[in-house]
Amino acid sequence: MSASKKIRPPLIPLQDPERIRRLNRLYEEIRELRPRADRDAEQERYGDAVSVPEAALCCAVEYDRSQLAHIPQRILEVDYGCGDPTGYAEEGMTVLDLGSGSGKHAFMIAKTVGQDGMVIGVDKTPEMLSLARGAIDEVMGTLGLRASNVEFRRGHIENLHVDLDVLDGWLEHEELSGYDALERLETHLGEQPLVPDASVDLVVSNCVLNLVADGRKRQLLSELFRVLKRDGSVAISDIVSDRDVPEDMKDDPELWTGCISGVFRRDRFIDAFAQAGFHGMAEVSSRFWKRVGGINFFSVTVRAWKGKQGACYETYRAAMYKGPFSRIVDDDHHVFDRGVFTPVCEKTAELLQKDPYAEHFHVTPRLEDPAGRIPFDCSPTASAPAANGDRAHGRDLSPDQRDLLNGLIDQGACCEGEGGC
Ligand SMILES: C[S@@+](CC[C@H](N)C(=O)[O-])C[C@H]1O[C@@H](n2cnc3c(N)ncnc32)[C@H](O)[C@@H]1O
Repeated sequence: MSASKKIRPPLIPLQDPERIRRLNRLYEEIRELRPRADRDAEQERYGDAVSVPEAALCCAVEYDRSQLAHIPQRILEVDYGCGDPTGYAEEGMTVLDLGSGSGKHAFMIAKTVGQDGMVIGVDKTPEMLSLARGAIDEVMGTLGLRASNVEFRRGHIENLHVDLDVLDGWLEHEELSGYDALERLETHLGEQPLVPDASVDLVVSNCVLNLVADGRKRQLLSELFRVLKRDGSVAISDIVSDRDVPEDMKDDPELWTGCISGVFRRDRFIDAFAQAGFHGMAEVSSRFWKRVGGINFFSVTVRAWKGKQGACYETYRAAMYKGPFSRIVDDDHHVFDRGVFTPVCEKTAELLQKDPYAEHFHVTPRLEDPAGRIPFDCSPTASAPAANGDRAHGRDLSPDQRDLLNGLIDQGACCEGEGGC
């Protein structure tokens, strides 16, 4: 009996409505994941593109050959990327590659992250996974690294909870025919998630987000957010358009699987990361790809960070925007004027000393802890300049606070300390 025949609607009505809702959601999720033999349009095209490489399928990129020397030719030939997000990986990182295809980019990153790092590729097409998994020993042997530092897992990037190999393994032995079975499956999947919460330093992806159905893109972005550690980041290369893609183009499977119809509109791509809770979004590279149906398509790479969430507390810190613009506004509508020290909460002070902000700000050090935790009002309205000319980002400064702040600013202003000017 095939795995799909064993999936039946839940039968036993239960009294606990929350449990029923949760398990019904899981049931729908499992149906969506189609844990069965027949392939969807993307699996069809990219499965075939393993044995017969399609030269013009995506927007080819030139790589530094020295970065590819450890990767076999059969992997390099199956490249359907449109950018190169691999350069953002660092030694020791855990990196997740969404839609890892032949494994080319995962293997490039494996070299960078080294012995203490880990690379996880996720793809839903079995042929791609076989190709990538089949090269692990050879690539990692050449690098002199443990083979277990790279894994290719089968799943849908918009649902990074469910490992399809784990799901199929369960369905081999159990029938999904009631709430009790669903609950056992829920526990089983939860014990071996495809990618656990807050487990990844960097998410990369190369020309794959556009292949996720429009109705699933919001879920996809929140999955990226979920799996990242605090202060983790994404480096995503994908195709974007300068106008909305019309429905008739979306219905064309050739255009859809060819990374055309499912793309984000350029401005909405960045917005999608903001809506998912990211900060510091920026388009870090772009180039024109082609024009189809009167619409221009570009390859872009976007960076974004996780970590602005949390409570705001007063520790008497301030940040000064260095320029070159006279005034900037962040995604939460906080205003920073060039050359002006603006009081900030402890969380913001820490954030502004990291990528991607550090080079643009001076931040005063934390000299003392106030007694007890004093809440800091980080709401946008609190960031407007006060009528009397004092900055009121978060609060009006009391005379004592202003003295302390001026002291901090003075300390950082001249040639003090061992380093001198
Ligand atoms: C355009 S190719 C890019 C492959 C690889 N990133 C590269 O640069 O060569 C898209 C890949 O994403 C996979 N894919 C498409 N949609 C997916 C999804 N929803 N979940 C997981 N993998 C997906 C396909 O199987 C294919 O391997």
